[in-house]
Parts: sequence; structure tokens; C-alpha cells
Amino acid sequence: MSNETFLVTGASDGIGAVYAERLARRGHDLILVARRADKLEALARDIRAAHGVSVETIAADLAQPADLARIEARLRSDAAITGLVNNAGIAGEGSILGADPAYLSGMIALNVLAVTRLAAAIAPRLAERGSGAIINMTSVTALMPAAFTAVYPATKAFVLAFSEALQAELGPKGVRVQAVLPGITRTAIWKEEAIARIPPGMVMMVDDMVDAALAGFDLGETVTIPSLPETAGFDAFIAAREALRPGLSLSTPAARYGG
Ligand SMILES: NC(=O)c1ccc[n+]([C@@H]2O[C@H](COP(=O)([O-])OP(=O)(O)OC[C@H]3O[C@@H](n4cnc5c(N)ncnc54)[C@H](OP(=O)(O)O)[C@@H]3O)[C@@H](O)[C@H]2O)c1
Repeated sequence: MSNETFLVTGASDGIGAVYAERLARRGHDLILVARRADKLEALARDIRAAHGVSVETIAADLAQPADLARIEARLRSDAAITGLVNNAGIAGEGSILGADPAYLSGMIALNVLAVTRLAAAIAPRLAERGSGAIINMTSVTALMPAAFTAVYPATKAFVLAFSEALQAELGPKGVRVQAVLPGITRTAIWKEEAIARIPPGMVMMVDDMVDAALAGFDLGETVTIPSLPETAGFDAFIAAREALRPGLSLSTPAARYGG
């Protein structure tokens, strides 16, 4: 990573706050984005004092079009920003049978639309420059769409697919794209009573998760699954998906469909 500025979304708490601290420790200046200005400013003060880097905070609700447009404009125009950590996200919609439509819209606006538009805003500058990084926070639920709730894993599957496509397009131009797939990580995204019911062996501490994700970044990974003991299983999964390709678009239907 270069010594230039990273913009981190969802930096007021949890995973984003740890990214901010770790990136500052690496010497990066920061722009921290989230809704809670007081929490952002408190973190910024601590980071400035500990690491001597420049830290700006911007209070913005990325699920709101006007706020999203403000951050996009900054990413498009500020040549100092060479890294984006697309981390802000929400979960917890519950069963689809009782889902609140407004909550679903808000989740898709934040987890999908904002991630897409922020990456699209910074990508042209980074491609032009021939360097820089886009780190997208997805989730292991992207790989297990039926094991959790219906919409959150689908938003994270979008981010995984989007990241792979971005890497395919931007990687050859010198831009690093990484999708991070945390498992259960102890942050405020979880209600305390919910996380208390999960076996402790399945719950990672947030500092360990971010350190592992950054180690994956340093290794040059496009997809980082911090807890997965061996990458061979994931590589086999990708290879199996690739092996489907010759049959995915043909002029005749398959025999089982009457072709
Ligand atoms: N913790 C896990 O088990 C886990 C596992 C897999 C993936 N993830 C992913 O990791 C990312 C971070 O989650 P976390 O666990 O660190 O959760 P968290 O502790 O709840 O933090 C979420 C962050 O996103 C910000 N945010 C929420 N809504 C926002 C909005 N509308 N606009 C701007 N910022 C907003 C929050 O700040 P404000 O409230 O101040 O806006 C906060 O800084 C998410 O994308 C999540 O899906 C988490």
C-alpha cells in the first residue's frame, strides 16, 4: 500500500473503526465516513494522537441519495484518495415473512447500491493512475445463501460477484480489489443475546478479523476468508464454477428440458 489517503465507510464502529486504526498504523491518511459524527470524531482524535496521520471525518448516511452523492463526488475528484474500504453495512432483517419493506430498501441501498456507486466513483481515477485499492466488505453468508436470512446474504453475494468482476477489469490496470468475507465477528452488528448463543469457537474478535483481512490484502488475494483454514476448498469451488462455463450458454436446451 502507498502512503496516501484511504476513505473508510462505516468507520464509527466495529470492523470499519479497526480498519481505520490499522491503516493509520501503516501511515495512511484517512477520511472516515458514517452517520454518527461524535463517534467518528472521537476515533479521529485517538488516531491522530497515536499515529500522527491526518484524519478527516464526514457524517453521511450512505443509504440517502444526497449523502451518497456527496461522498461519490469526493471520491471522483480528490486525487489524494487512493484507497476505499467499502465497509458500511447492516444486517438483521429477520424472516422474509415479516420483513419491513422500508428496512429491506435501506439495506439494499447501503449494502449494494452505495458499495457499487462508491467503487464506481473511485475506479476511473485509480485505473487512470494505474494503482490503488478497493476493499469491499462482504460476508461468508455470500457462500451460504440459505443458512441465514434471505436478503442480507444476497446483498453480500452481490458484493462478492461485483468484487470479482472489478478485479477482472481493474486488476490488469494496476488496481487492487479485495473482497473480505468475515464469519461471525464480535461487533455491535450483533445483539449481545444473539452472539451469546453462538459457540465461542465460531466467533472471531474484530481486531483478529481485520488483521487477517489485511494480511490477505498483503498476500495479493482477491477473496479473503479470514477463518477458512485452507484456501484449497475455495479454489476448488471457483474451479467447479469455471468448469460450468462451456455449458452455460448454448443454442439448444438441455436434454432434460426437451432439447
Ligand atoms: N460483524 C460480523 O459478524 C460481520 C460478518 C460479516 C460481514 N460483516 C460486515 O462488516 C461490515 C461492518 O459491520 P460491523 O460488524 O463492523 O457492524 P457495526 O459494528 O454495526 O458497524 C457498522 C458501521 O456501518 C455504519 N453505518 C451503518 N449504517 C450506515 C449508513 N446508512 N450510512 C453510513 N454508515 C452506516 C455504522 O455507523 P453509524 O451508525 O455511525 O452510521 C458503523 O460504523 C458490514 O458490511 C457487515 O455486513 C460483519
